[in-house]
Amino acid sequence: KTVSEGKVTYRAPSNIALVKYWGKKEDQIPANPSISFTLDACATTTALTYSKLAEKGSGFSFELLFEGKDKPDFRPKIEAFFNRIESYLPFLKDYQLKIETSNSFPHSSGIASSASGMAALALCLMHIEKQLDPSINEEFFDQKASFLARLGSGSACRSIEGDLVQWGYHKGIPASSDLFAVKYPFPVHEVFHKYHDTILLVDKGQKQVSSTIGHNLMHGHPFAEQRFSQAHENITKLKEVFATGNLKGFIEVVESEALTLHAMMMTSMPYFILMKPNTLKIIQKIWQFRSTSKTHLCFTLDAGANVHVLYPQEEKEKAHQFIKDELVAYCENGQYICDRIGFGAKLL
Ligand code: PMV
Repeated sequence: KTVSEGKVTYRAPSNIALVKYWGKKEDQIPANPSISFTLDACATTTALTYSKLAEKGSGFSFELLFEGKDKPDFRPKIEAFFNRIESYLPFLKDYQLKIETSNSFPHSSGIASSASGMAALALCLMHIEKQLDPSINEEFFDQKASFLARLGSGSACRSIEGDLVQWGYHKGIPASSDLFAVKYPFPVHEVFHKYHDTILLVDKGQKQVSSTIGHNLMHGHPFAEQRFSQAHENITKLKEVFATGNLKGFIEVVESEALTLHAMMMTSMPYFILMKPNTLKIIQKIWQFRSTSKTHLCFTLDAGANVHVLYPQEEKEKAHQFIKDELVAYCENGQYICDRIGFGAKLL
């Protein structure tokens, strides 16, 4: 089939890992499996306009607009992405593309847009592939979108579906793969389908150490092997936690994973610290609050200083009050984002 031109728009959410991906092999193959909550409010919307070049294979090119403006510093990452995926999407060389993208969250909020951004773009590209080959079914579509997104940014492969997603081979999860993420295949207690995530923006500055560098520092890291097996163990532990709604078990795994991620950074060579004093103050406050209020608020961290506060729907009122009264003071300009678990990317 030939397709001369068209336009497609996808909205893809961000995600927050519960078991962290930190360390990778060639071609964005993760050193250990990870599990994430798909988010809802934090998302990237990407419109892709495509038109076939007059002469077949006469040279692929793309135009890139971020929030309506040229963004030259985003180009290298997108170029690298296209180079990595062109052999999987042979039609690319025959098209000219215009990518118009925007985020629901403020730029330079310290929230990485690479997961949602790469997922949205991968889905738009799969849309062209499906135009050319209508026999592609939904399962293959999502799987290949996740596969392509992974080549843009590892964690992006977990931003196609919701609401609980697994990426990376784990022997207890037969459908799991290092190549793409899958929807978590085992029973999940309803409490987790309604989880909330309030993201406290502690430091909105640019990260001092990119995640690419961080992943690479796991090569030859003194604790790498123990860490990778710990991730497997935590995924095994979560199976019971998810099935039964064991919130205590959930908190234990999730907080330990967040601290371990940062412990890996602190013990690599060179070593670095991405947490800020306010990150630690927030963690202390959360622990205090949890012990006195009989609630189940817990935290997780990404590769940065911001804190994700996770809590069940039933504790929303108490959590919001606590966040406003005690935690907002530690956020840069008092900024935070109320998000919740979400159900995956959408064609608009
Ligand atoms: O997708 P990357 O290469 O930016 O790596 C992200 C790694 C963490 O966010 C720290 C953890 C994770 O699993 O998302």
